[in-house]
Amino acid sequence: MRRKVTVIGAGMVGRTVAQEVARRDYADVVIVDIVENLPQGIALDINQAGPVLGYEANVVGSNGYEETAGSSVVVVTAGVPRKPGMSRDDLVTTNEKIVGSVTEQAIAHSPDATLIVVSNPLDAMCHVAKNVSGFPKERVFGQAGILDTARFRTFIARETKSSVKDVQALVLGGHGDQMVSVVSATTVGGVPVTKLVSRDRIEEIVERTAKGGGEVVDLLGTSAWYAPGAATAQMVHAVMLDEKRVLPCTAYLEGEYGVDGLYMGVPVKLGAGGIEEVVELELTEDEQTQLQESADAVREVVGVLSS
Ligand code: APR
Repeated sequence: MRRKVTVIGAGMVGRTVAQEVARRDYADVVIVDIVENLPQGIALDINQAGPVLGYEANVVGSNGYEETAGSSVVVVTAGVPRKPGMSRDDLVTTNEKIVGSVTEQAIAHSPDATLIVVSNPLDAMCHVAKNVSGFPKERVFGQAGILDTARFRTFIARETKSSVKDVQALVLGGHGDQMVSVVSATTVGGVPVTKLVSRDRIEEIVERTAKGGGEVVDLLGTSAWYAPGAATAQMVHAVMLDEKRVLPCTAYLEGEYGVDGLYMGVPVKLGAGGIEEVVELELTEDEQTQLQESADAVREVVGVLSS
């Protein structure tokens, strides 16, 4: 029997994750949503792409949780996305209730699952999922860093007229406007970006990255899904296939990077055990200061949570 991945929320991000996972063909996928017929319709559509794209994973849609029983990974995308003019933090009260409720129901059927949170405000929603589930920190974490880093990599690749595949970069901190692009760790084909792009241009790209989600919201009237969905699927693959990938994820920190008792984006090693290691890299003094400022911003949002 194939193992099972559950995706909660059949909206734009959830359906993208579900299809990316189905396409890799190593697990069956269950999609859950409160809207009647929606997850069933999305599941049917994804199944019917299988003969064309060449995958045979079984995708099931449901308005309940029975079908999700025994999932190895549960992805939480349920919640409201932001609209133009809103920050991710504006979603906190609404999404706290939704993330709390879906986590509770999902873990009742999959007590050994690894939880990957995508709903925003991401860092705070990870706290909700951890508190509600009572799972160890290794099995509750969030998607933000791969997406933010992908945005940074895209801009650097365009700027240097290089392939995105050759741009290595890292974006850390909270998933908000105070995220930290680690310029010192950014290279194009191994060459430090600071040798290829002027300081002023780098600063502009860092700024565009930090506001990258908002740029898409302004264009679309809702938040992004292709890049967030692909980033989340990459995390699912790393866990399901025990890949030991080193990827930026939102992890619960207990002293690493000088941050204690807070979810924030850092590089981690992802495998079957979930977060198997928080990878600590040397930051410049300036980057360390920015990271602390980002932590302060996350702490403020976490302080708004009702529990
Ligand atoms: N249980 C299950 N599904 C729910 C619940 C719930 N209690 N509440 C809402 N949903 C579903 C909605 O019915 C909807 O189909 O979550 C889905 C959200 O989908 P979209 O509105 O398309 O939002 P999306 O763009 O997918 O973003 C989802 O991810 O990136 C973040 O900020 C984004 O918090 C948002 C989340």
